Amino acid sequence: MTKEAEYAIEVDKLTKRYGDLSAVNDISFTVRKGEVFAFLGPNGAGKTTTVEIIETIRTPTSGNVHLLGMDVTKKKHDIVRRIGVLPQEFSSFDRITVRETVQYYSRLFSGRNTDIDGLIDLVNLKDKTNEQYKNLSGGLRQRVGIAIALVNDPEVVFLDEPTTGLDPRARREVWEVLQGLKKKGKTVFLTTHYMEEAELLADTVAIISKGKIIAMGSPGELVEKNANYPVLTLQSVDEKALEIVRTMGFEQVLSNHKDIKIRVEHTDDVQKILSAIKDAGASYLGLDVRKPNLEEVFLKLTGEALSDGPAGGRGAE
Ligand SMILES: Nc1ncnc2c1ncn2[C@@H]1O[C@H](COP(=O)(O)OP(=O)(O)O)[C@@H](O)[C@H]1O
Ligand SMILES: [Mg+2]
Repeated sequence: MTKEAEYAIEVDKLTKRYGDLSAVNDISFTVRKGEVFAFLGPNGAGKTTTVEIIETIRTPTSGNVHLLGMDVTKKKHDIVRRIGVLPQEFSSFDRITVRETVQYYSRLFSGRNTDIDGLIDLVNLKDKTNEQYKNLSGGLRQRVGIAIALVNDPEVVFLDEPTTGLDPRARREVWEVLQGLKKKGKTVFLTTHYMEEAELLADTVAIISKGKIIAMGSPGELVEKNANYPVLTLQSVDEKALEIVRTMGFEQVLSNHKDIKIRVEHTDDVQKILSAIKDAGASYLGLDVRKPNLEEVFLKLTGEALSDGPAGGRGAE
């Protein structure tokens, strides 16, 4: 195919089997040029398998995948020159500096004269330029990885779980870098199991579970379509309060540690719940009422919690 493609990525009926396991099972989607597209799903959903097929690293069992109009099984050389990749388990040489690292990968992957300092600046590592890789925190290391993914000035950038395991602050700093990529007009394909990340960064989110895309759209559309109700969160509830909410017949969407989230029909219901808790002498530490987010969408569609940490029991569906 030589004509300029309309989409950055086109995936049509892609399946990948490992023995009896269909890790990716007949999925189709397109990614527009210049958008941030997020694959949101838990461990084992098939995110890395899909991404690495598009990157030409793995071979599909069946289906068609095109990147910038090129068939990924036939145009590997042309494709790798036009993409950037941050793999899920990225690491680099311990004892060379940030600048030397980016320079090395630039020589390896890029035929061009890369502006090394410009790249280091883009990922906000200017003050770490001469620091050895081994002395960097997880978040800084990921930003080195993003700089490496950009050495060939790629049109499409793949980032496989770029913030997994980072603390909230480091995560936010990576998000800022990703927002910068979007501003530069890059097409960004992101995988994540953090719904805040998808919600904040992505124009389009595909929710993937057990090898299937179970919903796709903008974060707003997904919430609108799948979880159109306010959510009351009560923090640090005691046993008594938990019991009262259970007996009132509201759908408890998730209880995590001692927090419970309750799906309410009307905001009036919030008052009802709080009065009942007060009358019974039960307690909670704080509360908020808000629109549902992708977490609730995921839960609604799969019956499973998406976030890390000990997810507690949930109410009857
Ligand atoms: N090379 C492989 N050989 C066999 N099974 C694999 C291989 N790679 C991934 N899998 C399995 O395929 C499923 C999807 O894995 P993966 O694509 O890594 O998911 P994710 O990135 O969403 O965590 C998992 O059950 C995983 O164990
Ligand atoms: Mg993965």
